[in-house]
Amino acid sequence: MMKKFFTVLIAALLFAITPAQAEDLGVELEDISAEKYNVHIEKFYATLPKAKGEYKSRVRPILIEGAMNTETEVLIRALKNPVAYREMNYLFVAGTYKDYPVVIVRTEIGMANAAASTALAIKKFNPVAVINQGTAGGHDIALKIGDIVIGERSFDNSAYRSAYSEAGAGIDLTKQESIGTYAYDTATKKFQAYNEYFADPTLFNIAFKVANANKNFNVVSGVISTGNTWLECVDYINFLHEKYGSSCEEMETNIAAQICQNAGVPFIGIRVLSDNVTNSREYIPTTAKICQDFVLLVVEDYIRDVLKR
Ligand code: 5AD
Repeated sequence: MMKKFFTVLIAALLFAITPAQAEDLGVELEDISAEKYNVHIEKFYATLPKAKGEYKSRVRPILIEGAMNTETEVLIRALKNPVAYREMNYLFVAGTYKDYPVVIVRTEIGMANAAASTALAIKKFNPVAVINQGTAGGHDIALKIGDIVIGERSFDNSAYRSAYSEAGAGIDLTKQESIGTYAYDTATKKFQAYNEYFADPTLFNIAFKVANANKNFNVVSGVISTGNTWLECVDYINFLHEKYGSSCEEMETNIAAQICQNAGVPFIGIRVLSDNVTNSREYIPTTAKICQDFVLLVVEDYIRDVLKR
């Protein structure tokens, strides 16, 4: 009896003096830019020779975009004779891949950075095509971490008009209508609203051909949802998935697509699932390598089959 009393007492005392565990809040953005993922990459980027003068190339390069170090390292390491350019503190690395000129841009995270760095890159390098790639969060329960989504189209999940409701009526984000983002239309020669941007069909077909020929990658075609948001609310994610067909979410693709449409440059977004709140909440940064490996295969086939080099 006494033994049981003391056991309960000690357990109660231990409980009282143990500091409360921090609540698991899921993925923090700091995790992605954490030093452990970045220091060695920054060191490598610092060793790249700096460009002297403007970029010159007889043929138009392919531009590949990634927001972060982890999403660009494999691509930059794959370049022959890499040269680093800086413009407004964005990093661009030009070199060759399979003897064809290729430029990698680290767009930095988010919509404004994606727009600015894409526009600068188009002006500076005059690319023949743009591939935006990197990590994304899953919106589809069928998709697993490491799966690749070839974006047949993308949309801006922040470009909507909410339904009117009175003060005190509460918040219901599901009552919304898309209002799109404005891009140049060559037919009307005006900027007009687009609810979505479609992948260039040639790039899309090449990406699928690569997927079919390389069964070690698990690839689907899908819809990329872009916004400056990181959604963890499963009901809202399910709403976006059901209403707009979103396969995954990230923060750059739709914006880069919009800028490419303005400039008349063929575009595709290719994303790997680094996290999927519908079935797991952890962010796995190493998935970024899978996407870059796949994109390099797409680039190789594009050079050979489309650019005929
Ligand atoms: N939500 C939003 N962005 C995500 N990214 C990866 N997973 C997600 C997610 N679930 C990408 C974005 C951005 C960076 C934070 O990682 O594109 O660049």
